[in-house]
Order: sequence, then C-alpha cells, then structure tokens
Amino acid sequence: MSTRHWLHVGVSTLVAASLIVACRPQPVAQIQTPGGRLYDINCSTCHGPAGKGLGAFPKIVGSAAILDGDYARTVVAQGRNKMPSFGTKLTADQINEIVDYVATFRP
Ligand code: HEC
Repeated sequence: MSTRHWLHVGVSTLVAASLIVACRPQPVAQIQTPGGRLYDINCSTCHGPAGKGLGAFPKIVGSAAILDGDYARTVVAQGRNKMPSFGTKLTADQINEIVDYVATFRP
C-alpha cells in the first residue's frame, strides 16, 4: 500500500468527521437526557432548540432567570405574561430537570 493511499484515507476521514461535527445542531448527549426531551416537547417551540428564542419569543440562554434556578422554576410553574404556566402539566421534578438542562446551554 503506498504512502499516498494512506494519506488520502486520512484526509477523507478528517473531512467526513468535520462534516459530521459541523452538521450536528447541538450536542446529542444532552437531547437524550429527560430534561432535554421535556424541553424539546414543551419549550423549544417558543424558546428555540438551544434557548436562543424564536420569532417574538425571548431567548433564555444566560438569562438571569435561568442563572437563578428558583426564579426560573417559578416562571415555568406559574407562567408570566405570554409565557404559559406548566405547573399543572409537569411535575416539580420535571421542571427541575428542564431548568437544569437549560442551564447547560451556552450563548
Ligand atoms: C407559548 C410560548 C412559550 C412556551 C411554550 C414557553 N415559554 Fe418561556 N417564555 C415565553 C415568553 C413570551 C416569555 C417572556 C415572559 C414575559 O414577558 O414576562 C417567557 C419567559 C421565560 C423565562 C424567563 C426569562 C427571563 O429572562 O425572565 C424562562 C426561564 C422561560 N420562559 C422558560 C421556559 C421553559 C423552561 C419552557 C418549557 C417548560 C417555556 N419557557 C415554554 C414563552 C414561552
């Protein structure tokens, strides 16, 4: 096998690997957590898949509410203005999991 051949294999692998990384919308491992799944179902329609906001809905990445977990839990449970309340739909544990998940988002 020639050196040239192995160089080619190496470069193709690198290109393929960086394509996979570039196309991945967000870390897959996080989506698999219970909080991630709950977020995708309940929150991403307004706040976007990575918490950056969608249309008129605000981004929550790095918001003071998320940094202060208790405040975020209250907003999610009780709602505020156009933010619906989830206190009857989700358990306190589920809200905790979602808020912990959102806290892992990076701007
Ligand atoms: C129907 C759209 C909608 C959905 C669904 C929604 N939100 Fe919101 N959210 C809003 C709006 C609008 C606000 C701003 C509320 C205000 O103006 O006081 C907000 C505000 C927030 C805030 C406060 C941000 C701050 O800086 O004070 C947090 C935290 C939050 N949402 C988290 C969540 C989580 C977690 C979920 C899923 C359980 C969720 N939201 C689902 C629309 C939504």
